[in-house]
Parts: sequence; structure tokens; C-alpha cells
Amino acid sequence: MTSLLQQAEIAVDKNKHSVNKRWYPVFHIAAQAGWINDPNGLVWFDGWYHAFYQFHPYSTQWGPMHWGHVRSKDLVHWEPLPVALAPEGPEDKDGCFSGSAVVDGDTLALIYTGHKFEGDATTDDAMYQVQCMARSQDGITFERKGIIIDTPPGLHHFRDPKVWREGDSWYMVVGARIGDCGQVRLYRSSDLYQWQDEGILAQSEPGMGYMWECPDFFKLGDKYVLMFSPQGIEADGYKNRNLFQSGYLVGDWAPGQPFVHNNDFKEMDHGHDFYAPQSLHSPDGRRIVLGWLNMWESAMPEQHDGWSGLLSVPRELVLGKNNHLLSKPISELASLRADNHNIGMTELNSERKVIVPHSDAIELQLTWDMAASNAERYGLSLATGLNIYVDSQSNRLCLERSYPDFNIQGVRSIPLADTNSLFLQIFIDRSSVEVFVNHGEYSMSSRIYPDDQQKSLSVFANHGRAVLTDGEYWNIK
Ligand code: FRU
Repeated sequence: MTSLLQQAEIAVDKNKHSVNKRWYPVFHIAAQAGWINDPNGLVWFDGWYHAFYQFHPYSTQWGPMHWGHVRSKDLVHWEPLPVALAPEGPEDKDGCFSGSAVVDGDTLALIYTGHKFEGDATTDDAMYQVQCMARSQDGITFERKGIIIDTPPGLHHFRDPKVWREGDSWYMVVGARIGDCGQVRLYRSSDLYQWQDEGILAQSEPGMGYMWECPDFFKLGDKYVLMFSPQGIEADGYKNRNLFQSGYLVGDWAPGQPFVHNNDFKEMDHGHDFYAPQSLHSPDGRRIVLGWLNMWESAMPEQHDGWSGLLSVPRELVLGKNNHLLSKPISELASLRADNHNIGMTELNSERKVIVPHSDAIELQLTWDMAASNAERYGLSLATGLNIYVDSQSNRLCLERSYPDFNIQGVRSIPLADTNSLFLQIFIDRSSVEVFVNHGEYSMSSRIYPDDQQKSLSVFANHGRAVLTDGEYWNIK
């Protein structure tokens, strides 16, 4: 009999040949075919970075979750590996949901949520989520160990374990929902098998969401960061405009103590598509995050092409002033650069100039002289579909996309500080854009769907003058 893992491999091998590559990423993690969502199990093990992801190999829609798997020496060039987990056991028969990975001696341990219905698969009352473990010596094939934490009485939404080592103990945070209150629950263990309930690490105040998915908890500088993906936060002006958010709270914590923070929830990213980020601790001590570059329930035109979903470029987190997280593209991304082109100082007077007639995958670095620019709007366009511009009247940086054929339209923006210059580092892949503002002060990530005639990049100034003091770009290998 063919196992579910083998069946998944057979489906990928068959379906990958019919993938249309027009929007398929050149330098981001994506499945060879099929659907992906959250990054899972990010870890350094045995000389490799491993990344797993929520994966449905049989179609381009979400379905019973598997764990897809890739590995890399440098977080930039990824090698596909066999599917790591399939919903094979009674404990995860309806899906191997999100989770994390840790290195336990010479073993790689995956800790994930087993998702299962008992009876009617349409109601939350029949849904159970348990935390499970699978272990591997070679980092490629995994042996299931079954349930390590059963569903606490009264809970149904109880998922996305993130495990880490602190002193002599293992700790785990898990996302949960009680009524309309999102929670992060904390557990402790000495061996990864037996877990002790340590209570609630944090929970939502009114307005902070009914379910907190994908929690991650780590030390950064002298603070602790709780990163999570709340569902149910209402949009508030320019903030929280996506269906679901991903964001963080910064506070103080020590084992056995409460997490003390001031409920100041801030978004991780300010574009249209960034969800369920997870972090890893690199061997050289950096805190690196990858997110899913999509949003639940938004249009995903690549589904017609045999695939769906990708992960963001890895971003290094640093704690900045006022407990604001800086998120910078990792330095390893420079190894993707091919030919370098200098744009040089450019002055624009109510005009547009083409800088790249036909782009594919590209990194741009642009420095705008804000003090010398008085245009109402100025910035960069990718044909008519994407504009990244300063709006001088609101003093905001805007990312506007317009792909009306796919029902994708809208603006996201961030406030600009009163500084003289604005530095933008922009990564454009075939169906994504990631903008890093002023060396990590903000990031904005969105999906884009240009056709082959919509690949020219230009800089523009509307109604007035704009000065680009410096600009260069690299095509990406
Ligand atoms: C977040 C999420 C997780 C869950 C997974 C299921 O995007 O809903 O909470 O584990 O996706 O695929």
C-alpha cells in the first residue's frame, strides 16, 4: 500500500510539470506544485537551515495539511526535500497544522498541531486540536511520536506550538481561543514528551481579536517579544487593514514570572500580504523571521497556474527605539545579485522616466531627497499595476496596487518621519514586492500580478519636483 507521504510525493512529481511559471518566484520559497500557507519548523540542524510549510499537495486550494520541506546552507538558495508530514494518524487525521522545530541532542524534533474532527466536520464543537511530535535523525524522514499535549477541557481552537529552550527547560507557547478571547498559553517540559501547564502568557483585551494564531516568543536585546497573528481586529484608520494581522507586543519576562507588557500591538508588516510569521535563531545569534506572503480569503490568481502561496524573504529583527521592531532583509540576500546598474542622481519635474524597460526579479535601492522634493506624489512604478510613492500631503509612503482583472486593488501606507532623506530597499519577484523603509523601520509586502507587458520600472514626480539622490539595482540570478 502506498503511504500518504508517498502519495503526496507522487502528486507533486506529476503536478509540477504543469505549473505555469509566469508568476512563480525566482528567489522565494514556494511549493513545486499545490497550495502552501504558514512557514513552520524553521531551524538550523546538522549544518542546514530547514524550512517547512503548511502544504496541500493535491490542489491549489487549502486542504488536509501536510508539511512541505526545503533546506538551505544560506537561507537564500533552497533545495526541495520530500514531504515531511502527512495527516496519517488518528491524532492528525484532518491535518498536520502549524508548529515549530527544535534540535534535541542529535535529533530534529517537529512539534505541530494534530487537527481532527470527531463526528460532524462542520462545527467547531466537533473539532479538536492536540500538540504532537515527530522526530528525525537525518533531518529528512520523521518518526511520529503521537500526542504530547491533549486538548485542554473546554477548548477547541488550540494550535500552532512554538517551542524553545530556556535554561534547563523546554518551553512552548500555543495559540488558543476561549469564547471571543484570543490567548497564548504557556507550557514547560524537561524532555519534550511530558508537559506542564504554566498558565496564560497573554490574552486579548477587548478589540484585540478572538483568536491568536501562530504565537512565537523570544528574547531580543533585553526584552521579550510576543509575535502572533490575531484574527478579529477591526481596521482603524491606516492600521490593521488586512483581514487578519500579524504583529507583536514587547515586554519583560522571566521563567515563572508573568509577561509584563503595555498592550501596544504593532503590525509586523504594512503591506497587503504578510501572515503567520515564524522566527528562528541563527547559529550566529540573529533572530530571523519568514512570513507567508498571502492573506486568507484574498484573490490568489496563481491558483490557475497550478500553485499557490510563497514565503517572504528572510528578515532580521532588531529591537529599535521605543520598543519598535526593525525588520531588515538578511545580508545573505546580496548573494542573489547579478549585474549592478547605477541609476544615479535624477531630478524629475512633473515627469516620468523609465529606469528598467523590462524587469523580472530585481532588487532596487533608492534614496530620495525629501527636503528637495515638493511634488505631490513621487516614487517608483511597475507599469500601471504597482506604485510605491511618497504622498507629500499626508506625509506617508504608499504602496498601491491595481490588478483589476483579478479583483486586486488598494493602498497600504506608513507614516514618514520628518527626515531629509528616504531610503528604500525593494525586492520584486514575479508576483511579490517587499519594500524595506529606512533600513528596517517598516516593511511593506504585497502580491502583484503583472503580465509580460507590465514589467517596466519608472520613477515619477506628479505636480512638482522630486530628487532621487542615489539609485541602483541588480537583476536577481
Ligand atoms: C494560520 C493557520 C494556523 C493553522 C494553519 C492551518 O494561517 O490558520 O493557525 O495551524 O494555518 O493551515
